[in-house]
Amino acid sequence: MNGYVKKHPIRTAALSPFIQVDRILAQTFVAAVESLPTIPSTNDWAKQRAAEPSCRLPLLVVAQEQTAGRGRGANRWWSAAGSLTFSLAWEPERSGIDLGQSPLVSLAVAVAVADATAALASGRAVGIHWPNDVMAQGRKLAGILVEVLANRRYVLGIGLNLNNTLAGAPPEVQGRAVTLRDLTGVAYDPTDVLVELLQRVEQRILQLAAAPADLVARANALCLQRDRTLRLRWGDELISGRCAGIAPDGSLLLDTPHGRRAFASGVLC
Ligand code: BTN
Repeated sequence: MNGYVKKHPIRTAALSPFIQVDRILAQTFVAAVESLPTIPSTNDWAKQRAAEPSCRLPLLVVAQEQTAGRGRGANRWWSAAGSLTFSLAWEPERSGIDLGQSPLVSLAVAVAVADATAALASGRAVGIHWPNDVMAQGRKLAGILVEVLANRRYVLGIGLNLNNTLAGAPPEVQGRAVTLRDLTGVAYDPTDVLVELLQRVEQRILQLAAAPADLVARANALCLQRDRTLRLRWGDELISGRCAGIAPDGSLLLDTPHGRRAFASGVLC
């Protein structure tokens, strides 16, 4: 990624062997990897590391199992054996991206994950739901949690339903989620998938810095909500409107009875 010179890549002790760390270091922009067997949340772990000024970036934290995965807002992220959960700590300013662009960073990651999973699923239809859910067959395939630290570093957390089965999932997850393996019947090599995802995240972040309109055009092409009537909780208001796609700054565009409005935040319900 622009601004990063990868010298002396770091493997961390206490490695979990389920990922081939050397391949990640050789084939992606990541400079340091912490691959761990079981931790509460890769985002929490990466945030702790990235708070240290000496932390080597971009840092990938990947867990074979998460016991307290977090989603956006107060949501939890359910993960089970076979799911892929990881976080990337990174300094956007080194890539020419400023803090005001964080909705677009989140969109860039969603586009990368949607395109990567579509490629892995032999072109099966994968799209996005604003702000950054990755969907297939009307169900959630991957979730993304972007967090900004006080020192202006970002942690990009990605949870992908990969080889896991939904059999043991809570009922509310079973009805709303899908795994890549469910879609294709294929058992995936998690390192192959991580390499694909990280390479595409890097490409989309570079595109955001160089040609943000192209990134937003791709996000609009992947947006599955266009022309659908959506209801958005925005502060104390509940707003209903027909989705007109995603604005150049990453906001959601809704055609409401009072005209077109752009929402930088809000929860769809
Ligand atoms: C969402 O859909 O609300 C976002 C879910 C993000 C889940 C991932 S799993 C890896 C990383 N660690 C976490 O605790 N959360 C993110």
